[in-house]
Amino acid sequence: MDAIRIVGGRRLAGRVRVSGAKNAALPILCATLLSEGESHLRNVPRLQDIETTAALLHTLGRPVDCKPPEVTVFAPTTIHPEAPYDLVTKMRASVLVLGPLVARYGRARVSLPGGCQIGTRPIDQHLKGLEALGATIAIEHGYVVASAKRLRGAELVLDMATVTGTENLMMAAALAQGRSHIVNAAREPEVVELARVLNKMGAKVSGAGTGVIQIEGAAELAPFDHAIVSDRIEAGTYMVAVAAAGGEALLEGVPVEDLEALIAKLRAARVVVEPDGTGVRVARDGRLHSVDVTTSPHPGFPTDMQAQFMVLMCLADKTARMSETVFENRFMHVPELGRMGADIEVSGHTAFVKGVSGLSAANVMATDLRASASLVIAGLVAEGETLVSRVYHLDRGYEAMEEKLGALGANVVRVRGGSV
Ligand code: EPZ
Repeated sequence: MDAIRIVGGRRLAGRVRVSGAKNAALPILCATLLSEGESHLRNVPRLQDIETTAALLHTLGRPVDCKPPEVTVFAPTTIHPEAPYDLVTKMRASVLVLGPLVARYGRARVSLPGGCQIGTRPIDQHLKGLEALGATIAIEHGYVVASAKRLRGAELVLDMATVTGTENLMMAAALAQGRSHIVNAAREPEVVELARVLNKMGAKVSGAGTGVIQIEGAAELAPFDHAIVSDRIEAGTYMVAVAAAGGEALLEGVPVEDLEALIAKLRAARVVVEPDGTGVRVARDGRLHSVDVTTSPHPGFPTDMQAQFMVLMCLADKTARMSETVFENRFMHVPELGRMGADIEVSGHTAFVKGVSGLSAANVMATDLRASASLVIAGLVAEGETLVSRVYHLDRGYEAMEEKLGALGANVVRVRGGSV
């Protein structure tokens, strides 16, 4: 397993371009299953999760030419609607094939994803919604076994605004007979992007981005050609990296309209964030100011930015209260940051982050995707050499992070096989 070595203490300067959004590309790749034709995706990030999804589509009988930023999903050879345990446990988002397979082929056998580091992450809302659409669902030997003649439109009321739950049910409803409503739907930009693609395919989806999405199902759906939107979480991660290390940078392709909550908190922390042509200029010179943060579903402060923003608050002037309301165990970065000199007390779902004068380099271990990004940012700040182990977590969601940080003047290198 690889590690990343960072020699910190340098201010950042330069420009970097944001890649395509992982959490938009994953459901859109699964949406190709709704049509028999050949679909083309552009601006796809070069990430492990994209490779995993391509492998899954292959397993299901859909050949894929995966050369990011271009990915082509070909017409099916023979469909084998089973998503195996080894692929689903590698990437929970594999559950997104369930809705399309049941809707298109009337059957699916998908491994239950199981929990992960940040929480138990059940999929009960996905299954309840598919049953409301007319599917028969059974759990057998750790697999979801689903079948349906033809799905029928229904009123789907979610207990919480689950992102992939909303996406799974949108895709299933797109081939159901009649109209469906998803009430208490997720409002994330990636849901809006999926709706754009489903409409390109011939479904009639309206209300995406609001709490109620209406879907008129179609008898069949056409293949599509689509360029993926920029990744708002990758963009936010680099904004925080510049703010933490200090300096100034131009980030190109930042979807500012999708980052209002984060940008408001960065500005409150005395970080300069200014639209600049096709990008955003981020700068920080003086002492950061502590600001309280509570994560919540979009358009609130993104849970996927909590770990990164916490590093910023480690350097601020007072104490910041950071509450994580979306996942039950998303503070694994805290003990690792503590080993770098951070002063953080966790009480339940709230971390009290007391600003310190600086961080000190250490060997640390990544535990999940966004926690690994926060440890890299901490390494940029800490004087000396930080080694972040198990960066396969990072490779799932950040394209060429070492190169992009290098372009901003950071001293970051990948150590092959360097993990402890
Ligand atoms: C998506 O995960 C993202 N992944 C996550 O990004 C992101 O953190 C999360 O949404 C929240 O924004 C993708 O889009 C591929 P949820 P998802 O269902 O859909 C509970 C990253 O770092 N819940 O919105 O799995 C669940 O336990 C990843 O890129 C149920 O109880 O998240 C959680 O507490 C990490 N039952 C809450 O809802 C269900 O059936 C929100 O989860 C579904 C969810």
